[in-house]
Order: sequence, then C-alpha cells, then structure tokens
Amino acid sequence: MSATRRARLRALAKINLDLRVLGRRADGYHELRTIFQTISLGDRLEIAFTPGRRSAIQLADDRIPDNLVVRAAQAVMDTVRRAGRVEMRLTKRIPMGAGLGGGSSDAAAVLLALPVLAGGEVPLADLCRMGRDLGSDVPFFLLGGTAVGVGRGTELFPLPDAAARHGVLVAPGIHVSTAEAYRLLSPSLTTELQENKMVSFQSQAWKWGDREPAVNDFEPVVFGRHAPLARLKKRLEQSGAAPAMMTGSGSAVFGLFRTAEEASRAMSSLRESEMAGGKGIRFSLVSRARYRSMWWRALHEHTGANLWPLRSRYLR
Ligand code: C5P
Repeated sequence: MSATRRARLRALAKINLDLRVLGRRADGYHELRTIFQTISLGDRLEIAFTPGRRSAIQLADDRIPDNLVVRAAQAVMDTVRRAGRVEMRLTKRIPMGAGLGGGSSDAAAVLLALPVLAGGEVPLADLCRMGRDLGSDVPFFLLGGTAVGVGRGTELFPLPDAAARHGVLVAPGIHVSTAEAYRLLSPSLTTELQENKMVSFQSQAWKWGDREPAVNDFEPVVFGRHAPLARLKKRLEQSGAAPAMMTGSGSAVFGLFRTAEEASRAMSSLRESEMAGGKGIRFSLVSRARYRSMWWRALHEHTGANLWPLRSRYLR
C-alpha cells in the first residue's frame, strides 16, 4: 500500500486596492482594471493524496454544492494523470460573499498543492488556464502579493510590494452577489468614462496610493442598496484610515493605517451597531515573497527545489 502524502495549507484572502469597471465585453464579462493584494486572513485546507489504482475526490463536511475546491481537484487529476484518492478538509475563516476571494483562493490552493502531492508537473500557464475556467479571481492567487489585473481580471502583471500597512476589515452580514453587482453597474458605463478611468487607473497603478485616491467602482451601486456600508467606510475614514474602501463587489469594507497602534485603536473604537451585523478583523498585507515562502513551508517535504510553481519530488 502506498503512503499518503499530506499537507496543511493556508489559502489567503485578497483585497482590491483599486477597482475600475470599464464596460461590458462581447463575452458577457466586464473589462477591469484592478490592483489585487493578498492579506494575512486565510482559510485552512488540509489535503491528502494516496496513490492507488482508482481515483476519487472527497471533501469532508461539504455544505457547499459544486464546491470550487472539488472542481479544482478534478481539473488537476484530469491533467496530471496520476491515479489516487484525494481527501480534503476546508476550515473557512474568510467570510463568503464579501469580495475577499475566499472560494477562489481555496481553488487556487488546490491547483498549487495537488500536482505536488500527486507527482505531476503542470506549467504555470496551464495552471492559469485552469484557474480562469474556475473563476475570474483564481489566477491572481497563483501569483500573490500586489498585482494589476486587466481583462476579466485574469491577465496579471506583478507590481512591487505595496508599503507595509496595518488593516482593519469589517465583513458585515450582508451578502452581495457579484453577478448582480455587475448588472447594477453596467448601464452607467460609457466610452467617455472608460478613457478617464484608464488614465487615472494608470497613474494609480504606477504608484499606488501616492497620487490619487483609490477607487472602487462598485461602491456607488452597492452603497446605494446597503447604506450601512457607506457609513462604515466613513467611520473608518474618521478613525484615520487611508484609504477606507469596499473590496471587490462587497460587502467587506477595509481601512489601511500606517501603524499597528492606529489600526488597533480604530478596531476597538468600532461599535457593534456600526458593523452591520458583521465583525472586525485585523490583517496585514502579504507580499509575494511572504506568500511564496508560506507555500514553500507548507509543501517543502514534498518538493525538491524552491521553484515557482513548486515542483513535486514524486515526479516519474
Ligand atoms: O468569473 P466569476 O465566476 O467569478 O464571475 C462571476 C460573475 O461575475 C460572472 O458570471 C459575471 O456575471 C460577473 N463578472 C463580470 N466581469 C468580470 C468578472 C465577473 O461580469 N470581469
């Protein structure tokens, strides 16, 4: 009987430091300009692969039908052509429907880890294609750190690390559907607006936060429906956050502070009534180097060399 290969992973959340929606594309998706950033909040994923004659994929405590993690595992198994049993257990810490990319990050974690455990080699370009098929935010988690996303958000350009900041995040008990947020925003997008957005985004991406205020185009439509989110943003600004903004299509709102003390003070001054049924979470920004060393630590016993994506030591 073959030995089981196990790993315990952290699948980190993302925030959007800037997010502009230019217009609807012929394929039904919207053209984006965004800055993604990985943060220290993460789900836990335990994953085990046991080589064997038959393949099977199991997710313990699966309360989410059609879970992206299972689809990611299936995509890897179809690609690496190694038979065996995949067992996974997911402990959610990243609030869902909050614009934090939790489900996408879980899926990307499987794309990064399972080839290593199963003894297959999947080039980064193929992982990105598999990620795109699972969801627009998945490819970013194959890169981590700070990155510009264009197109559907799946064409990525790494940026130098954003300055170290201390964050406070509030994930309210409001679930925003991404597709619905795009539908609400779409009618207001015009060609003239697109050009202005591109120019101002470019100067933002050049040196994030230094030149122009950060923007999230979803705020007007989502705040229009959920007034407590607008109040939350204002409240974080008043306590010194720069910027304070919503991430993705919501509903989480975050604030960044220069010092840990400022962030802690802001967090403890938030009243329960101001958090729209949610809770406050402290976080830090995770650089690409830190992201990759986290992956290396989680998988080092199954890899030979510290390359990216990590290479399996079970390659035949
Ligand atoms: O790619 P993903 O499955 O995460 O997208 C969810 C929904 O969000 C899509 O079905 C689409 O309605 C919308 N979307 C979009 N433009 C994007 C990304 C997502 O219109 N760039």
